[in-house]
Amino acid sequence: MKAKKELDPTVFVIFGGSGDLTWRKLVPALFDLYRDGRMPKKFAVIAIGRSAFSDAKLRLRLLDGVNHFSPKGKAKSADWKNFSSHVTYQQGDYTDLANYVRLGERCAKLDQDWQEKAIRIFHLATPPELFGVIPKMLAAAGLNQDRQRARIVVEKPIGHDLDSARVLNHLLTESFQEKQIFRIDHYLGKEPVQNMLAFRFANPLFEPIWNRRYVDYVTITVAEAVGVGHRGGYYDESGALRDMMQNHLMQLLCLVAMEPMVSFDADEIRNKKVDVLHALRPISRREVQRCAVRGQYGPGILQGKKVRGYRQEDDVSRHSKTETFAALKLFVDNWRWQGVPFYLRTGKCLAQQVSEVAIQFRAVPHEAFPPESRHDWQPSRIVLSIQPEEGIVLSFQAKVPGPKMQLRPVEMRFNYRGNPPVPSPDAYEILLWDVMQGDATLFMRTDQVEAAWRVMMPVLKAWKKSTPQNFPNYAAGTWGPKAADELLARSGHTWRPIALRFKEQ
Ligand code: BG6
Repeated sequence: MKAKKELDPTVFVIFGGSGDLTWRKLVPALFDLYRDGRMPKKFAVIAIGRSAFSDAKLRLRLLDGVNHFSPKGKAKSADWKNFSSHVTYQQGDYTDLANYVRLGERCAKLDQDWQEKAIRIFHLATPPELFGVIPKMLAAAGLNQDRQRARIVVEKPIGHDLDSARVLNHLLTESFQEKQIFRIDHYLGKEPVQNMLAFRFANPLFEPIWNRRYVDYVTITVAEAVGVGHRGGYYDESGALRDMMQNHLMQLLCLVAMEPMVSFDADEIRNKKVDVLHALRPISRREVQRCAVRGQYGPGILQGKKVRGYRQEDDVSRHSKTETFAALKLFVDNWRWQGVPFYLRTGKCLAQQVSEVAIQFRAVPHEAFPPESRHDWQPSRIVLSIQPEEGIVLSFQAKVPGPKMQLRPVEMRFNYRGNPPVPSPDAYEILLWDVMQGDATLFMRTDQVEAAWRVMMPVLKAWKKSTPQNFPNYAAGTWGPKAADELLARSGHTWRPIALRFKEQ
């Protein structure tokens, strides 16, 4: 976030270098930084993996990833040739110390060639089982020693529950200091998510009404219009609560509900976010039934195409009880938000891809307009759209032009990508650049990860204890189980109806 003029020389080491994340996200992001002229002048990418690959074969695979996934489009061959000359492969076992010693020698050689000590970034793009091993081995090889320059990047999931998250955080902090650890939640790298801070705190307009006096309730939706794809094996052990709610949705909730920060300092912002998690009213096990809803998709029609149900997906148990949909009703127990419900929902194979936060304001305290003028009266609302639309929509009442006083809801829209739309950088481009600069603002701290797990635990435990009898309980291509609507309806609230018109504009 805070840009330095020129980045220090950097060695970017990727464990899981021949894997999916490197191919789909990490190298396209690094290459996009390169073609934007934002990589350090002196840099190297060392991909480490167990499979046998030559440098040339790896580069070909990575080019394929760039051409498929970069939001900036296909690589020009001269750019790729230059960039990929910095990329090399090292084959080896993650549990073999010799592999790390060799890595250390290569890093030392680069320092020598560059006549400067480089930043060393160790990115764990591996299955989580290896999160315990690799930091230990890096430490055994002395690669954690330079507290200023050595950094480790870990991907979610950070644990499977509170206890395992604690164990993992302990393993990480045994070898690296907290300031060296960058835990990625890619939602924090999305432009509109970062814009939430700007919207709230760079304008005097919204903050005075951003509280229980004016806000009736808040909904946070992260809906996916895809199934589990090739990740059935992982997902069946995880489910929507662990995979999305504990991290991405909790981060959004923190940004909506946090108090204004005093400065733009990484720890100041992270402190304010953790405060929100600490203020969340614990859901007692007794209340889980009333405050949490789970669902699993069955076969259905998704955007015009027949799709199979979750239990028919590859690597998923035919009797799976894993939830592919979760909704929660939460309260933030502090002065600002006392009594305001925050409803969160996320699911796979829903009718449409949409991530958004909707702030629903209270109705006017006194309706002075005659009843016939307000048949379509809707209280004001602000929608912060994260994807696929990236923008902000303010809905309010206005007079229909004409002789009569007739009111109707109208909208003011801000489109983050402008007109014509300019593609936003991928979240990883932003996050990897921040790691290179050592800016931890957009990364999760130990206490934040654990506080988010603490909120999830009663629900996870209650769900584990009582297996759902009605799965699958929503058809693919719908908005999830009926119970998710009832969760709001009990208080006279509704999820914001998401019209397909958004897409058609
Ligand atoms: C990941 C989850 O963290 O986020 C996936 O593991 C999910 O299951 C993905 O599909 C969604 O990310 P995005 O950026 O596509 O909304």
